[in-house]
Amino acid sequence: MVKEIGLAAIGECMLELSAAQNDTWRMGIAGDTLNTLWALRALLPGARCDYVTAFGDDHFSERQKAFLAENGIGYASSPVIPGARPGLYAITLDGVERSFTYWRSDSAARQLASDPAALEKSLSNLRLAYVSGITLAILDEPARRILIDALGKARNAGTLVAFDPNYRARLWASRDYAQQEINAALAVSDIVLPTFPDESELYGDASPEATMQRIASAGVAEIVVKNGTEDALVLFDGIAGTSPASRAEGAIDTTGAGDAFNGGYLAARLNGMDGVAAAHRAHSTAAAVVCVRGALAPFDLLRTAYGCGTEPSAA
Ligand SMILES: Nc1ncnc2c1ncn2[C@@H]1O[C@H](COP(=O)(O)OP(=O)(O)OP(=O)(O)O)[C@@H](O)[C@H]1O
Ligand SMILES: [Mg+2]
Repeated sequence: MVKEIGLAAIGECMLELSAAQNDTWRMGIAGDTLNTLWALRALLPGARCDYVTAFGDDHFSERQKAFLAENGIGYASSPVIPGARPGLYAITLDGVERSFTYWRSDSAARQLASDPAALEKSLSNLRLAYVSGITLAILDEPARRILIDALGKARNAGTLVAFDPNYRARLWASRDYAQQEINAALAVSDIVLPTFPDESELYGDASPEATMQRIASAGVAEIVVKNGTEDALVLFDGIAGTSPASRAEGAIDTTGAGDAFNGGYLAARLNGMDGVAAAHRAHSTAAAVVCVRGALAPFDLLRTAYGCGTEPSAA
């Protein structure tokens, strides 16, 4: 019997208010690590997928859990924090420019490492654990240490750890501090999926090649450097390669493009593809997401774009 594979993403999913028409708002649920897990859920239908976070005990936290369940996503041993609530953001449009307003400083997800034993349990028996720099940024320092330790333990037990540094300056006290903490996560990562403009802002990298070299020097063996509509750089099995971005006819909203890319890449790798082949699938997956509003494209659309059923071997 083939053992079911377990995947988990760790982070914060927020309530999202969008499409303001006068004062009527539409509520959705999104967050960078959830967006990636969403793509993995679509592309690896045989896998068990859990979102590892912390919930509040209010109506909106119940809605988050129901949303996950409706889409075949569990939440492992994520704690419920009495009196806490989810974070919230609103998207406003000024012409075609989108801007974001956040209410997240006391969100429940900041306590996702409040029960270290529960966190370790959530990260046990996994094929893949996925985390981002946004997850690191919302935690206080002791909680961040607990999370990085738990990832290190999972990795020692055979779990692949994948990390997108997703640097967002406003979430960090200083650039130096963000570098230090993101470097600590690189040290427990098998696969790192950065974006060049973010890395350039954080580390001053002069080129995507410099980003790749710096992360490789930190001891990471598998790296894909995304760069919007430019080629992605891939380091896989000791060989550097490139993968050109797909041409997305009708791109309307790039929200979540990098997150979907990561989902496509990791799904393809878990299906046995090499790094460059997986990056091609990742671009196709991201191209589907930039053609819909919001970060979460319908599962069918993602499957078609990625090419489900055409993999050399299925996980
Ligand atoms: N305008 C676009 N048209 C087509 N594809 C795009 C576009 N922007 C991004 N993509 C696709 O999405 C991938 C990731 O984009 P990008 O490098 O902007 O990620 P990111 O900055 O991590 O995004 P995010 O905002 O989700 O964090 C690219 O490699 C490419 O495949
Ligand atoms: Mg990104």
